[in-house]
Amino acid sequence: MKGQIAPSMMCVNIFEIEQYVKVFENTGISYLHIDVMDGFFTPNFTIGTDYIKQLRNLTNIPLDIHLMILNPEDKIEWFDIKPNEYVSIHYESTFHVQRALQKIRDAGAKPMIALNPATSIFELEYILDDIDAVLLMTVNPGFAGQELIPSMLDKILDLRNYLNKKGYQDVEIEVDGNVSFENAEKMRAKGADIFVAGSSSLFSHALDISDAVKKLQHAII
Ligand code: DX5
Ligand code: ZN
Repeated sequence: MKGQIAPSMMCVNIFEIEQYVKVFENTGISYLHIDVMDGFFTPNFTIGTDYIKQLRNLTNIPLDIHLMILNPEDKIEWFDIKPNEYVSIHYESTFHVQRALQKIRDAGAKPMIALNPATSIFELEYILDDIDAVLLMTVNPGFAGQELIPSMLDKILDLRNYLNKKGYQDVEIEVDGNVSFENAEKMRAKGADIFVAGSSSLFSHALDISDAVKKLQHAII
């Protein structure tokens, strides 16, 4: 499968969202990554339900909603999630991980489990049927612009091997945090499928946005 890009919408200047989304449509972007932070699970706040509603009116690109919130199983209905969307919840954010994933599946969307850097891939053992993808945080959640934690590169490879050995070759791996052009290439070689692109690549402003998309696409072939 070709590597896919999910631009991190929290990195887009709010006054330029429309122009950026046009570029993402024209360059074949797979998902728009939305970081939802509640100030409890993460030491930061970000965008929420009304922003998401407006974004759905603006484009047909499916959303990839990353819920960094406590007890997500109580809040999934707030997001009115759609069948072609990915919705990720954090393993560390609730006592009821399977219930939260099941709620996403029941709503018709694609459940994804997110793991903080310190969380072991072996925690996935009994929820493999409940997920379509795993989001590996390659930095600690909360802020754009952090440095890749080096051991996360091997974690990607370990996870790919683990999923394949268990017979879950179709479960995709998403990486989030310091996905620079250089790191993306390394992460791709280890087996990552979906790349959250933030301030380290698409939004570094070193390149024009469509050139930056092409450069990242090239890095993850
Ligand atoms: C949090 C966010 C950030 C960020 C990613 O989940 O998704 O990790 O926007 O982009 P970088 O790390 O490149 O700023
Ligand atoms: Zn994210």
